[in-house]
Amino acid sequence: MTTSKEAFLHAVSPDYGYGGAIDGIRAKEYARLEGKCTVYLDHTGTTLYPASTVDAFARNLQEHIYGNPHSRHPSSTLTDGLVDETRLKVLAMCRADPSEYGVVFTANATAALKLCWEMCPLDAASASEFYYLRESHTSVVGLRALADSMKIAAHAIDADDVPAILATKPPPPVDGGEAAMAPSYSLFVYPAQCNYSGRRFPWTWPSLARHRQWLVAVDASAYAATSPIDLSNADAAPDFVALSFYKLFGFPTGLGALIVRKSRMPLLRKAYFGGGTGQLSSVMANTHWQMFRDTLHTRYEDGTVNFLDIIGLGIAIDEHRRIYGSMQAVAAHTHALYQWLYEQMHNLTHENGQHVCRLYIDHEMAHDPAQQGPVITFNLMRADGSPVGYAEVEAIASVNRIHLRTGGFCNPGAAQKWLQLTDADVRRHAEAGHVCWDDQDIIDGQLTGAVRLSLGAMSSYEDVAAWLTFLRQYYVEGMESAHRPAFFTTYRPKLHGPTDNITTAATSVHLSRLTIFPIKSCHGYSIPADTDWPVTAQGLLYDREWMLVRKDTERALTQKQYPILATIRPSISMARQELVVNAPGMDELRLPLQTLAEPSQRTDVRVCGEV
Ligand SMILES: Cc1ncc(COP(=O)(O)O)c(C=O)c1O
Repeated sequence: MTTSKEAFLHAVSPDYGYGGAIDGIRAKEYARLEGKCTVYLDHTGTTLYPASTVDAFARNLQEHIYGNPHSRHPSSTLTDGLVDETRLKVLAMCRADPSEYGVVFTANATAALKLCWEMCPLDAASASEFYYLRESHTSVVGLRALADSMKIAAHAIDADDVPAILATKPPPPVDGGEAAMAPSYSLFVYPAQCNYSGRRFPWTWPSLARHRQWLVAVDASAYAATSPIDLSNADAAPDFVALSFYKLFGFPTGLGALIVRKSRMPLLRKAYFGGGTGQLSSVMANTHWQMFRDTLHTRYEDGTVNFLDIIGLGIAIDEHRRIYGSMQAVAAHTHALYQWLYEQMHNLTHENGQHVCRLYIDHEMAHDPAQQGPVITFNLMRADGSPVGYAEVEAIASVNRIHLRTGGFCNPGAAQKWLQLTDADVRRHAEAGHVCWDDQDIIDGQLTGAVRLSLGAMSSYEDVAAWLTFLRQYYVEGMESAHRPAFFTTYRPKLHGPTDNITTAATSVHLSRLTIFPIKSCHGYSIPADTDWPVTAQGLLYDREWMLVRKDTERALTQKQYPILATIRPSISMARQELVVNAPGMDELRLPLQTLAEPSQRTDVRVCGEV
């Protein structure tokens, strides 16, 4: 495996780098990354904002007076006009004709999907059904709880089954025909890109449902950051598209949108009203009379919209275009970089020939940008075929300032598919105390989650090369392992040599070292070889005896949240009966074991959700 830039530039597609501009973009817009030596590879979590966007936004706020858009004075009409201008920019970005589609601003994609459900004319009496792709984010899966509450049948389906299922619903009855029956609509929701694996799903599915009794919503949250959305052929496009803007631009946060086909308006429900969405209402007599407003966003944006951030969004869209040219250019750049990374990880082997990375990717689709986004999700494997838990990879990557995401990524269907977990496995993991965001990465030998690298508009060769160097340094067994830093051995103790008093299956094993972790989540302490060490009912004395706790939340700190804990080195001095703590930038701390053991020093705290 080579990671030299020359070799990379020779091998990579010419689409990489915005015609040679990437290094300048990085230096100007993302200097804070270099300043903090950070390698950022979590763009599906959020991409990072360019410096120009926040500079332009700060200048703009200081130059203008923005009033509440529901008032009618000049600073209010200025806001209202800019909010509407941003709506048009969002539609232009999606190549959507404003006469066909409208934008309803929401707090995020999750809120957009929930609003979509509330709008749809679904009910059990008319046999409405809810279908969603199994590889959906929980923002979509959670809609099934609303379906259950309305006694509407909800079905998780696989990509291969979608065309046949869409064909099952009939066209709406023609006016006056077929006994003038009211149509019975069903809803199908799917992600344009799976946030777990990066797999992309066809934008042609809505055309199969069009002119049938379906409403189709596309969750484009993960897709839109690295690929253009094209709703220009409205007849073949979805009825709804959900977005979260921080995923595209890094800033603003707390702002999403539901893009809605306007011709569906007569069908759509409106129940709650508040703020500007009620045009007039009466509360004097107990008649519950109210009139809703009639344009799409005035009807569905309850309360005051996040108007300053919407103005910021307009600026973010303009700056993004100025910096990167177009979403097509971002798509081409990220796909080129992803392809190279994919090849490197796919071909990476230990000295014994075993693959280092188990990639959760369909290899036949891996090179087609219509079927795979710039995301690589995987688990690392040791040379003996045993898996490395995601929590370990995340902790060591974080200490090396590589920012990546691990776990189940709020996508239970994709996690079960790729990790081959049955429902019973998932329940067993839950009973063992595992929750999505904890460090229990392997239970009974079974992986509970994965590691995800996701590229964004500003990702560069240097990011990917730093990751590959890290991988080689820490996880490729063979020639390179001599270059690993010393502390790494605590994560992967090597057992070797003969022994005569344990089972035949383990005759080639002897115990070379015992490591305890006196302070939970901090560095381990290796018990000196010639020392007797007491074993108590809880295990080795002083193993996970103490932990660091936030006073406000009474929660234990974990290495996942605070990777810096890995640099705190506790040790036990039996001779002096002290816990000795060393960490960079602080004086050595010596605490008497006697005092620490006193019951008055104890308090209840939460660890992984348990008291
Ligand atoms: C595919 C997908 N859908 C929905 C969401 C939810 O987005 P938000 O948390 O911004 O509402 C995410 C977030 O990661 C996502 O990746």
